[in-house]
Amino acid sequence: MKEYEYKVSAAGRINLIGEHIDYCGGKVMPAALSLKNTVYIRPNGTNKINLSWTTLPDKVTLDIDKLDSYKGLKYGNYQAGAALMWQRAGHKIVGCDMLQDCTVPFGSGLSSSAAIEVSTIAALATLAGEPLNKADIALKAQQAEREYAGVNCGIMDQYASACGKKESVMLLDCNTLQCEYLPLRLGDYSLVITNCNKPHSLIESKYNERREETDRALDMLQQRIEINFLADLSLSQFRTYGTVLPNVLKKRVEHIVTESERVRVATLALKAGNIEMLGGLLNKSHASLRDNYEVTGREPDALVAAAQAQSCCIGSRLIGGGFGGCTISLVKSNSIDEFKEFTYNNYLKATGYKAEFYNTEISDGIVISKL
Ligand code: GLA
Repeated sequence: MKEYEYKVSAAGRINLIGEHIDYCGGKVMPAALSLKNTVYIRPNGTNKINLSWTTLPDKVTLDIDKLDSYKGLKYGNYQAGAALMWQRAGHKIVGCDMLQDCTVPFGSGLSSSAAIEVSTIAALATLAGEPLNKADIALKAQQAEREYAGVNCGIMDQYASACGKKESVMLLDCNTLQCEYLPLRLGDYSLVITNCNKPHSLIESKYNERREETDRALDMLQQRIEINFLADLSLSQFRTYGTVLPNVLKKRVEHIVTESERVRVATLALKAGNIEMLGGLLNKSHASLRDNYEVTGREPDALVAAAQAQSCCIGSRLIGGGFGGCTISLVKSNSIDEFKEFTYNNYLKATGYKAEFYNTEISDGIVISKL
């Protein structure tokens, strides 16, 4: 890649706990992965962005003056959306060639789209000689996901992709964007990431539906009690005021309130090195995503059940937007091979799908090197 000027990457992510509460003003615990999107970039002296990929034969050219016209592209739409939001925020876009190399599996719930959006903006800013503000890049990337890709997401993925740190989970307050980095010390346990490999095409519409439900529930509750976000509601307030909500909305809010509480306890457990307690919270989180938030599905439930059936596994849950994608499991480090074998076989038997395991580490968010 010698002929390029910079190599700029941004990370995929997992989320230890705190699912579907980022857009409700809650705290979440994501971590950036060594699976990432890398952009090799050089100026080309035109007003075009030429995109190519290491893993695809496609080549796409984006006109810098017409960045709003590429929503329908199969490949290149995330880059166009990210560049457009950066441009709209007043930044200069330099004509360039970008070679994209993505190691985050698409549609896996590990945020390949955030990695693409964040790395694209970081690469454009680097080429223009701008100082980098990672949190600001995350916000513009989120805007691209919302306004260009049409997923009304929270800030967790883009923030983790930009600001993650090696060997740390982030305790991110999605309301204030204050972030505390906690060392991920798991003692005798390791995190295993498993893809259920079920295609999940409904994810976007269902995701937006959940967001609308939580917005409606917040409106109704605000007529009774002064809160700015659903995640501000305490368990006891939920017991008192939740009765005004229709049944479905009540279940959704129960997830938000209990998940926020689980994040609080998980923080204490992690700081105290109580990994068994953390595992129990992962199991409870999955049950709540399944029964109250209803974003899991047959295959993710079967994968989690296969994991949870083993004594070497102290916790397992679906991560990300839901309806497919990846689970994380806390597994005794000396039993990982047996864990994978049992999980693979039992999941295959239950669903007919082949689970896939990823070897990846907790890593940094945006990384830039001059070539
Ligand atoms: C997707 C969204 C995030 C977050 C998760 C669920 O990954 O992009 O903002 O809401 O789902 O926790």
